[in-house]
Amino acid sequence: MREFDLVVIGAGPGGYVAAIRAAQLGLKVACVEERATLGGTCLNVGCIPSKALLSSSEHLAELKHLAQHGISVGESSFDLGAMMARKDRVVGDLTKGIAHLFKKNGVEWLAGRGTIPKPGKVQVGDETVAAKDILIATGSDPAGLPDVTIDEEVVLTSTGALALSRVPEHLVVIGAGVIGLELGQVWARLGAKVTVVEYLDRILPGADGEIARTAQRLLQRQGLAFQLGRKASVVRQGAKATVTLERRDTGAVETLEADAVLVAIGRRPRTAGLGLEALGVKLDARGFIAVDGQFRTNAPGILAIGDAVPGPMLAHKAEEDGIAAVEALAGHAHPAPDYSLVPGVVYTAPEIASLGATEEALKEAGTAHVVGRFQFIANGRARAMAATDGLVKVLGDAETGRILGAHILGRNAGELIQELVLAMARGATLADVAATPHAHPGMGEAVKEACLAALGKPLHM
Ligand code: NAI
Repeated sequence: MREFDLVVIGAGPGGYVAAIRAAQLGLKVACVEERATLGGTCLNVGCIPSKALLSSSEHLAELKHLAQHGISVGESSFDLGAMMARKDRVVGDLTKGIAHLFKKNGVEWLAGRGTIPKPGKVQVGDETVAAKDILIATGSDPAGLPDVTIDEEVVLTSTGALALSRVPEHLVVIGAGVIGLELGQVWARLGAKVTVVEYLDRILPGADGEIARTAQRLLQRQGLAFQLGRKASVVRQGAKATVTLERRDTGAVETLEADAVLVAIGRRPRTAGLGLEALGVKLDARGFIAVDGQFRTNAPGILAIGDAVPGPMLAHKAEEDGIAAVEALAGHAHPAPDYSLVPGVVYTAPEIASLGATEEALKEAGTAHVVGRFQFIANGRARAMAATDGLVKVLGDAETGRILGAHILGRNAGELIQELVLAMARGATLADVAATPHAHPGMGEAVKEACLAALGKPLHM
């Protein structure tokens, strides 16, 4: 029987990063993955292919706005097959890159589905290997709607919506969360009529309310239609589907005809089939694996990270979990990750980046705070690039000036937020950020200005 110090189950961003780091720390490591390629949901059917399609479709959408730059182009057209092939190449190159990193770092890929037949053992196909420690990094699956069958042809999860072979005439998206908005925007840009149905009275639950409202207005301007406050259900009929919407206020029922329906109502931890029940591994009330600050479950020698455990269901959070877990295993002191510092980014245009507390959360908690806003319309670089939609909003402690939250809507918001992540992580204040030189002309100046505004001293407003 082959023996390893650590066997990681799952090669998504949580698992593969943990495996590499553990190997770098001197452990003998194997990583079990049943998919034909490494990288998990994120690389194969999530973050990366969606960003490839967002980028391709954005180029197409941009063509409409070139006249203001004095550029005229003939009639535009696109080849969906070529766009999809490019996406597949991007995914293929990146997944092969992980296989290369495994080889380079001496991580053994055990191909197949992993189960834990008893403590200290992992079974993959016909082989059982011994593991001093086992790290579960199995990720999550799309949540389903009761009585709705996903066929990935007409009724889709994100996986199907990333691989359609034709542009649907009418795409109904159920759920105005991250996946719904990103993929809704892709297909709207490619010519589909897109209706987003949301149970709540707002889009993007968890995001700052002002930012979400502004984002909704900007997305509507680009052609996305929203039906909020409605509970949705779907029935497929041949090549079409009927979506039934029940208004939450009046109970009135409406229907929509669609030729594709994307169900994007969240994700659930993937914990079934591992043998956790027999091992007595505890799950919390929502089905996530319960872990301590070092990602240890209640069962000796079994750890878990990423979407399978509580916290934001994001690739970069899973990576942080994985590194903290294996560094602790290898005997290095590593503080438990602070999830309030994990930024969330929706890669629509404009992008929506969130960090820390929302204004609503601070009000609810009764935290004395200051707010600073700076609109990109007053930023020179944004004007020069015709990227004036959106704003930077920062929230600070009224007494200490410590940054409590930051929310950016606009081009490159996902990159701009990173300065504030570092500021928050290091306990920097609004005044610290405001006193830091920012290159001119840059969209980052709006971050500085928002901090100045929170201190009552904006320069360009
Ligand atoms: P989500 O949790 O972001 O949004 C789901 C939405 O569906 C919510 O607004 C919810 O109120 C709504 N909903 C639930 N049941 C409904 C019903 N019956 N009818 C109508 N609306 C209903 O989940 P989403 O978009 O599926 O994403 C799943 C996970 O993947 C999230 O944790 C997300 O963070 C992650 N993800 C992250 C991305 C990024 O970081 N850019 C990109 C895509 C996904």
